[in-house]
Amino acid sequence: TISKSLDGKTVLITAGPTYESIDPVRFIGNHSSGKMGFSLAEEAARRGAKVILISGPSSLDISHPNIEIHRVTSAKEMFNEVFKYYEISDIAIASAAVADYAPKEIASEKIKKNDDSLTIELVKNPDILKTMGERKSKQFLVGFALETQNEEENALGKLQKKNLDMIVLNSLRDDGAGFKNDTNKIKIFTENDRKEFALKAKNEVAKDILNVVEQEILK
Ligand code: PMT
Repeated sequence: TISKSLDGKTVLITAGPTYESIDPVRFIGNHSSGKMGFSLAEEAARRGAKVILISGPSSLDISHPNIEIHRVTSAKEMFNEVFKYYEISDIAIASAAVADYAPKEIASEKIKKNDDSLTIELVKNPDILKTMGERKSKQFLVGFALETQNEEENALGKLQKKNLDMIVLNSLRDDGAGFKNDTNKIKIFTENDRKEFALKAKNEVAKDILNVVEQEILK
């Protein structure tokens, strides 16, 4: 067999949104489809890696002998699943759109529409990526930043604060970038370098990201 560039590596990838329950029928979610993370999983597997894909609710499917998919719903579930596999991972890529807050209490019955206004108290979710940064040993750690303003400053802030080796910035100000689209437009920052890429299909974006990861790992 031909040797591949990620042979022998274990790659952990988070993908998709998280859903935070309000009551038995409602949740707080976001527009992530999972496409970006699933494209990364497929490309890493194609390069010979063993892939552990941890996905929030997504209609996408994936089937490859090198990919293990673990489906979760909430940020807390994603957190617990990630840390079952983080230690054995060589590369970890956080492309999930994790809810920053969740309802403090989940109502046990469907909330009735009685009053003119309704207040739901939210409490902070654990930051999965930040915790990965704190627990980093051998892992090459890649985060994403989804921004709408002060994009580069915010992305560089996350690179530092979350102890990342690399961050992928996508901006909702760019047409065709971010959620749901089959395309994305990214910039990649490492401590000493920045690269800008054109708008392209997410499976091509996945190649660009993994090319930079491989370059950095070999340095
Ligand atoms: O799924 P698609 O429709 O293809 O869309 C792809 C995408 C837009 C979701 C993806 O490209 C992307 O940008 N993912 C990150 C979205 C996000 O939540 O960004 P953020 O800037 O809020 O978070 C920064 C980083 O911290 C991210 O790597 C995120 O996964 C991580 N995080 C955030 C909060 C939290 N509680 N835990 C985390 O791990």
